Amino acid sequence: AGSRHLVVVSNREPYQHHYEDDGSIGVEEPVGGLTAGLDPVLRKTRGDWVAWGDGDADAVVTDDEDCVAVPPGDERYTLRRVWLTDDEVSGYYYGYSNRVLWPLCHDLVDRIEMEPAYWDTYKSVNESFGRAAAERATEDSTVWIQDYHFCLAPKTIRESLPTGANMVQFWHIPWPAWDTFRVVPHPEELIEGLLANDVVGFHVERYRDNFLECAAQLDGTDVDREAGIVRIDGREVRVGAFPMGVDAERIESIADGFGRDDWVGLAERYGIDPDTRIAVGVDRIDYTKGIPHRIDALETFWETHPEWRGELTFVQKSSHSRSQIPAYQEIAEDVCEAVRRVNERFGTDEWTPIVHVDDYLSQRELFGLYRHSDVALVSPLRDGMNLVAKEYVAAQVEEDGVLLLSEFAGAHEQMDEAVHINPYSPDGFAESIHDALTMPAGERRRRMRSLRDHVREDDLDAWVADLLEAAGLTATERLLAG
Ligand code: G6P
Repeated sequence: AGSRHLVVVSNREPYQHHYEDDGSIGVEEPVGGLTAGLDPVLRKTRGDWVAWGDGDADAVVTDDEDCVAVPPGDERYTLRRVWLTDDEVSGYYYGYSNRVLWPLCHDLVDRIEMEPAYWDTYKSVNESFGRAAAERATEDSTVWIQDYHFCLAPKTIRESLPTGANMVQFWHIPWPAWDTFRVVPHPEELIEGLLANDVVGFHVERYRDNFLECAAQLDGTDVDREAGIVRIDGREVRVGAFPMGVDAERIESIADGFGRDDWVGLAERYGIDPDTRIAVGVDRIDYTKGIPHRIDALETFWETHPEWRGELTFVQKSSHSRSQIPAYQEIAEDVCEAVRRVNERFGTDEWTPIVHVDDYLSQRELFGLYRHSDVALVSPLRDGMNLVAKEYVAAQVEEDGVLLLSEFAGAHEQMDEAVHINPYSPDGFAESIHDALTMPAGERRRRMRSLRDHVREDDLDAWVADLLEAAGLTATERLLAG
């Protein structure tokens, strides 16, 4: 018999309550990424979600157990909020998670900024989340921990996990080789913490192999790399690759409802000429996403192929997070500066080469933008998976767009029919943009159809089922049917 109750643990919450200017309370949902991906899962399975309550009105709407039923107006599961002090936020979230583990796991060791207080705070905050998660768990639960914010929480949870319950952690970012990972102080403690789970999941096999290599460095572990099993403290931990998917059916139907008129309206709102061909990029502003490199490649493209000036518009949709970290402020400025440079160089009265959309787009508008874009430029320098690549494909209802995809995104391993690019090579990247724009319709369709088959087949439900089945959860179809 499998467990039937999920307790999700993530840093970022799926719903954030805040005060509007008029004093009323509004709700915001993050678009894209991990939380937006998991919310549909919890809507179906119900259960509990433990996360940091960072909205200024979050405390007002929670009960005396720090819980609130969500989604607002269509309550299906319980959001249990964990409160953090400013010091905790700066040491655990801005500090250890995002100035140490994030750059480390993206192989950017020069970007690591280390302060001793980060580690102590990371440890104590992990204990708080661990206690909150353990409180929600029953003998029927699978505790499902997300990401690099919680290497140590599994240890705390394990101490008071009811018999019969189990624990899975999914790591949404890359896992580097031991030679990189050991740069950080306390590498063993981090790995040991993760090994308190019953299952540890990664997006692709390389990350899984890297983790197993790291686990093998610890005293007292016995690692079976072939089977993906680590034995420690008399327990077996399963380590596997489970590539995350998207809710393809939902994206497709939303995009399908966003016709030509809707698109022209959206384009006009942002000064995009809807009669040009459109290339699109969608990212959270981050130095791992390679946005300045992408703009350099576009500059090279318009320089070497002047016939495309006035004929191709690039739409960069950005969202912002972690802005208190100077490296994030710098990259945001670099992106604006690069956009300005290229627009000054090639722009005319009739045509803006790069349109930078910096404000909120609804899911409908976002998927509509994907649908009406001829080319998607997904060019991170390093990325655990990159769900934008999969969302773009799912939204391509006319099946005639071309996906350009970095070799350094996890998604690259599953998307053979994309045009593969190296973001570090502006000349090659520029030529690939040209190839994509001049690709015969038959070839575009063949590639896009095959990509769409994969994205539909390996969708979000398939990912959840694979991961939870590895944790011994049976009848996930029933669970996911809601
Ligand atoms: C990545 C991480 C997630 C994180 C998201 C947004 O996708 O894997 O854990 O939630 O970025 O970053 P933020 O710091 O705003 O939560």
